[in-house]
Amino acid sequence: MSIQSETKRHTLRSLAAMKSKERVAMLTAYDVVTAACLDAAGVDILLVGDSLGNVIYGFESTLPVTLDMIVAHTAAVVRGSKRAFVVADLPFLTFQISAESAIRNAGRCLAEAGAQAVKVEGAYPEMCETVRRLTQAGIPVMGHIGLTPQSVHQMGGYYTHGKTLSSAEKILREAKALESAGAFAIVLECVTESLAREISSQVSCLTIGIGSGAVCDGEVLVVNDILGFSPGKSPKFALPRFNLKEMVRDTAAAYVQEVKGVKDSLQKSPEILS
Ligand code: KIV
Repeated sequence: MSIQSETKRHTLRSLAAMKSKERVAMLTAYDVVTAACLDAAGVDILLVGDSLGNVIYGFESTLPVTLDMIVAHTAAVVRGSKRAFVVADLPFLTFQISAESAIRNAGRCLAEAGAQAVKVEGAYPEMCETVRRLTQAGIPVMGHIGLTPQSVHQMGGYYTHGKTLSSAEKILREAKALESAGAFAIVLECVTESLAREISSQVSCLTIGIGSGAVCDGEVLVVNDILGFSPGKSPKFALPRFNLKEMVRDTAAAYVQEVKGVKDSLQKSPEILS
């Protein structure tokens, strides 16, 4: 007789059913304990984002993140969670070169790490073909358009997209192309609120906003930003709700005092040792 777990993980079907009914809460996670806390809190989707390059490894951009890093952190997040849908972010140059290598690399995230889906940045025609090939291979894909940090040099920095009519029309076309290619969800990063609203009403897949106003089907933020545990300043759309850095520093300082205090008292009264 098999014992079934009471807690069921989200699936593509349960997530799709949330469109227009209930907003999707998504956060990044990179380790087992954080994943367990976010999962217990009811977060629907955990993204093992390549933002781990910034907040865990201290890189200036996401470009140095490797597939091995994403696979290892994704496996930890899967081990820590029971209910959330886990998405692995494909790093720079692991999906842009060919659909075949994208399938192989995305396959590692599912087969080795246990992710349920992958995320890819961009929506140019070859990328949409790759999204089609990935979904045909049985790998669910979350798209990501607007501000795409892996193209920071090509875009000339981090700024809001869709402010001009031509830019807004291009991003709307990209969203529709990703939807036709089979993406189950699309992250809209730093696009204008009016564009995010328009895209959300025109595509049937889920839209997940970040820095785009609270008008999408769901929201995503980098967990370290809202915990006050990022190396730099959190962006203004992800203000810290807590100061975890201060708490860790104060706890460590108290520990240092404890350790040094004991040593001091041992030195002062060696009879304690006898
Ligand atoms: O890498 C990441 O964390 C992301 C989200 C911010 C969408 O791509």
